[in-house]
Amino acid sequence: MKLYNIKENDEQVSFGQAVKQGLGRNQGLFFPSELPAFDDVDALLEKDFVSRSTDILSAFIGDELPQETVRSMVENAFQFPAKVEKVTDSVSALELFHGPTLAFKDFGGRFMAQSLAAVSDGGKVTILTATSGDTGAAVAHAFYGMENINVVILYPKGKISPLQEKLFCTLGGNIHTVAVNGTFDDCQTMVKQAFDDAELRQAIGLNSANSINISRLMAQICYYFEAASQLTPEQRENLVISVPSGNFGNLTAGLLAKAIGLPIKRFIAATNVNDTVPRYLKTGEWTPTPTIPTLSNAMDVSQPNNWPRIEELCQRKGWGLNELASGAVTDKETAETLKAMFDAGYLCEPHGAIAYRLLEEQLQDGEYGLFLCTAHPAKFKESVDDILGQDIPLPGPLAKHAVMELLSSERDADFAQIRAYLMEVAG
Ligand SMILES: Cc1ncc(COP(=O)(O)O)c(C=O)c1O
Repeated sequence: MKLYNIKENDEQVSFGQAVKQGLGRNQGLFFPSELPAFDDVDALLEKDFVSRSTDILSAFIGDELPQETVRSMVENAFQFPAKVEKVTDSVSALELFHGPTLAFKDFGGRFMAQSLAAVSDGGKVTILTATSGDTGAAVAHAFYGMENINVVILYPKGKISPLQEKLFCTLGGNIHTVAVNGTFDDCQTMVKQAFDDAELRQAIGLNSANSINISRLMAQICYYFEAASQLTPEQRENLVISVPSGNFGNLTAGLLAKAIGLPIKRFIAATNVNDTVPRYLKTGEWTPTPTIPTLSNAMDVSQPNNWPRIEELCQRKGWGLNELASGAVTDKETAETLKAMFDAGYLCEPHGAIAYRLLEEQLQDGEYGLFLCTAHPAKFKESVDDILGQDIPLPGPLAKHAVMELLSSERDADFAQIRAYLMEVAG
């Protein structure tokens, strides 16, 4: 597999290099030079999740890894289902929260851990990642206890749900967590600064597990196909998918699924009031504003990392950005929607509710809608309980971590402090 840096096209890397390096020169994202094409998608959809995902990922990776290796990576990573659940006659939920940390990030995080192990030369690796909530848990659990790998996770102090925090800040061992006095965007900026620091990069074998790592996105492509395989041919015919978006990794993966052959009529980029992308799609002006805290905190991102990949893909495929639908939902509307969904028999959480609301608003006659449920409702128990006036039960993994002690360090949003911390734990 060959990939190029979309900012500096002459930087070309293999899958292994892209996985190890994460980000290219000048903070450029890697993008596949060639996209596979699946002509007989119906045959692909007939296969089981692991076999189909192996076919898809092998088609991307090419001869760099034998197909049997890719198959065992997929078997190890995807040990839980991506389930389609009917919500109304014309809308289903794609539940991506049946993995160990109850969020869609389990697919990408675990496949990235497998990829890194498959391409590793045994040297020291430090995974540095910023999280607005769920990436941290998925990455921490995927890499916990792996030899020669230290994981450092930055998150905005007080801006992720207490249960989310418990899920990844209680592991210890090779997992180091830092509560940053700042926003998610601050955390993300410091990760980028670390990548720009050649000396640090070398000293600690820096890598990132954010959705900038191509292996995570590749894994996410597979569940769009899995969702389609659970729909009827009629439902697939006019399929509209609404994606709750923050850093836009999930939407990038969906668009890649479409690019390699999955017939999807339209995507909806669904955000909260941190709506840089919906505004950009309307006005053509990219004007990020300061991040606003919302109920859907994992989407409190105003400078989405993956957006350049979406532009690159659209340009390569000749898709106009105006084909991408979008919308932004306020907290009040999110709460109303969550309540209405619950009253109609479906328990959701704020991120999924945003995607559902925009889908309901924008779905046309004859279309079938799918919205992504990116986290288990119990991960946002405080707000979900509050909105619904319920006490929703905690599933096993959350109940276990909820009573464990937090092990995080605290730092300011100051790169010098983070650099010193990285050298201390991983240098
Ligand atoms: C629950 C949840 N929903 C949606 C998102 C947004 O996904 P993306 O960053 O791929 O747009 C996140 C990201 O952290 C998340 O944790």
